[in-house]
Amino acid sequence: MAWKTICRLDAVDPASMNTVTHDGVEFLVLRGENDKVLVVPPFCPHMHTRLCDGFFDGATLTCSQHLWQWSVDDGSMQGIAEAPLAIYPSRIEGDEVRVDFDSELRYDYEAQS
Ligand code: FES
Repeated sequence: MAWKTICRLDAVDPASMNTVTHDGVEFLVLRGENDKVLVVPPFCPHMHTRLCDGFFDGATLTCSQHLWQWSVDDGSMQGIAEAPLAIYPSRIEGDEVRVDFDSELRYDYEAQS
């Protein structure tokens, strides 16, 4: 597996999110209020709105367009969401957020429907 560091953990404050680009791939990194870190594609699985324009309260990510929601704990659907988020394999090593670049990182939601 090709695990690569995409950002430092302190680049994402607790209960916040940040977009980072590494090797030409854009990621949305969510850091929960419980320090859980979730790395997902930057676009909503509904109509591809940028998720960084949505809202994140430290537990739940909400898309700004139609208010679909997901949990930062496991990416599970909440409320009225009708599709799950893709979740990239990630882990924290020391103060680094690392992603497995051998996995599918250019997630195409339309190809899945
Ligand atoms: S575009 Fe995100 S919920 Fe519709």
